[in-house]
Amino acid sequence: MNQENLPRHIGIIMDGNGRWAKLRNLPRSAGHKIGAKVFRNIVTYCNQIGIQYLTVYAFSTENWKRPKEEVQALMQLFRDYLLETETYLEQKIQVRFIGDLSGLDEELQQLIAQCETSCQDFDGMHLNIALNYGGRDEIVHAMRRVVQDVQDGKLDPSALDEQAISDRLYTYGQPDVDLIIRPSGEYRLSNFLIWQSAYAECVFMDQVLWPDFNEKQMDKALKEYARRNRRFGGV
Ligand code: FPP
Repeated sequence: MNQENLPRHIGIIMDGNGRWAKLRNLPRSAGHKIGAKVFRNIVTYCNQIGIQYLTVYAFSTENWKRPKEEVQALMQLFRDYLLETETYLEQKIQVRFIGDLSGLDEELQQLIAQCETSCQDFDGMHLNIALNYGGRDEIVHAMRRVVQDVQDGKLDPSALDEQAISDRLYTYGQPDVDLIIRPSGEYRLSNFLIWQSAYAECVFMDQVLWPDFNEKQMDKALKEYARRNRRFGGV
């Protein structure tokens, strides 16, 4: 793959775990467990091939509506990853959790804070894990900050521009997403990075569910991205 045509920032909606499990008469949590392994493989691969930013949609603000056992199983997978420090420490990736973290349990919040602190001086890929994340919710949080900064005299309302909003999102300091990948045949963004994806290319893959996603599928999506002609509103 030509390094020049690689997206700087990739977003992935890791969809299809439940269907993968159902096809095998397994509980939905079994699909998430395999999905978490695939997540690790894809993070390693993206880091190896030189992707600079990767954001994965791990748990949305709407996912709390799922059965209690499924939510618990997912939280356990996040905890397992956070406890497995050697994985992200060895790879020197810079992990950031994006979302309303105050809605997570105390232990998870502490593990997240420890993880982010231990990764902050690394120079590998930036990995954002979206947890209790919603794109609209992120914009609401950014707006609260804008209002606060105006009230505190730190921001003049006439200076409010797109950059000022980007600077207050969970992804502050990072480039907009270039490519969004969604396996499993669903053709929507589902409230994922809605501000940052204004000019993103979307690659929807209907032949694969997330637990079957692998490096080859990633290459396929990257080739499709490289073929696209991005004009950003120009000609
Ligand atoms: C959507 O598939 C997937 C999720 C809501 C969970 C994604 C989480 C993981 C893959 C675990 C990641 C682990 C770490 C450590 C970040 P779905 O359940 O909606 O699938 P369905 O549409 O087939 O029901």
